[in-house]
Amino acid sequence: MKRILVTGGAGFIGSHLCERLVKEGNDVICVDNFFTGSKKNIEKLFECHNFELIRHDVTKELLVEVDQVYNLACPASPVHYQYDPVKTINTSVMGAINMLELAKAVRARVLQASTSEVYGDPAVHPQPEEYWGNVNPIGIRSCYDEGKRVAETLFFDYHRQYSVDIKVIRIFNTYGPNMSTNDGRVVSNFIVQALKGDDITIYGNGTQTRSFCYVDDLVEGMIRMMNSRDGFTGPVNLGNPREFNMLALAEKVIKLTGSKSKIIYKELPADDPTQRKPVIDLAKKELDWEPTIPLDKGLEKTIEYFRSVV
Ligand SMILES: NC(=O)c1ccc[n+]([C@@H]2O[C@H](COP(=O)([O-])OP(=O)(O)OC[C@H]3O[C@@H](n4cnc5c(N)ncnc54)[C@H](O)[C@@H]3O)[C@@H](O)[C@H]2O)c1
Repeated sequence: MKRILVTGGAGFIGSHLCERLVKEGNDVICVDNFFTGSKKNIEKLFECHNFELIRHDVTKELLVEVDQVYNLACPASPVHYQYDPVKTINTSVMGAINMLELAKAVRARVLQASTSEVYGDPAVHPQPEEYWGNVNPIGIRSCYDEGKRVAETLFFDYHRQYSVDIKVIRIFNTYGPNMSTNDGRVVSNFIVQALKGDDITIYGNGTQTRSFCYVDDLVEGMIRMMNSRDGFTGPVNLGNPREFNMLALAEKVIKLTGSKSKIIYKELPADDPTQRKPVIDLAKKELDWEPTIPLDKGLEKTIEYFRSVV
């Protein structure tokens, strides 16, 4: 059993990761500043002797004795990361430096939660890890996209320069319980609108596609990557290669919730990528990983969660 630090552990993905790591008997330290995360997401862990919570901002230094660090701290949805763009890029960059310094000091293995957003609006489809991306450096999404790109650079520089044991994953759209209701991400948006009987908003004409990975599948991939063979750094794509367009998703949500909501169309926001789909051959080969939970099943669990909070 290991001592494991999870930054951003009170957020959507972090809370599922903490729960799984605690269940496996590890000593888990969750670090969060509660910008988008909440104590509610992790409240059932408070009674576990092997779970600790530290209120801390990753832009500041931290020293704790651990074997592994999962660095997830960063707002992930455009509504949240565009609220204070300077803070967002600061969190990605300084958060990465502080976690790498920590890993260097205590000789821990450190995993960076990077993103498919490093591919920007991709000119290559689907996206393999070798693709360098098509990112606007000065747009409204750049604080997040470029912040994550710099974080990747820092990880590889600390690895080359100081031999820090790094792992980098690029997460594609993930969904599940504990997503926040107001973060503007498409799955939570559609479900909340359907449950409230509000109009379901599609931005653009609904033909843009996304691939959706259920959070349990993602967490499995993250843990496999953290414990992968020495010398395998990634970056590795983790996501579901099955593509859905927004109209198909909206119709699925209406059907599964039994909602009477209507679908309406609004203008596509600036720099919104038109398509995204991971190539996951590397994850299959190195981690023997691929998503197993079908969209319908994952949506049912997510809808059940949102019914309890909306
Ligand atoms: N959800 C997705 O589809 C997705 C896709 C790609 C990448 N990711 C990455 O995965 C990670 C987790 O995403 P999520 O969807 O769970 O988002 P989230 O917003 O639910 O979680 C982020 C967590 O980080 C915390 N945080 C933010 N800034 C912080 C700071 N300065 N110091 C300490 N804690 C801070 C928040 O309070 C929150 O608990 C993020 O790094 C995100 O970029 C997520």
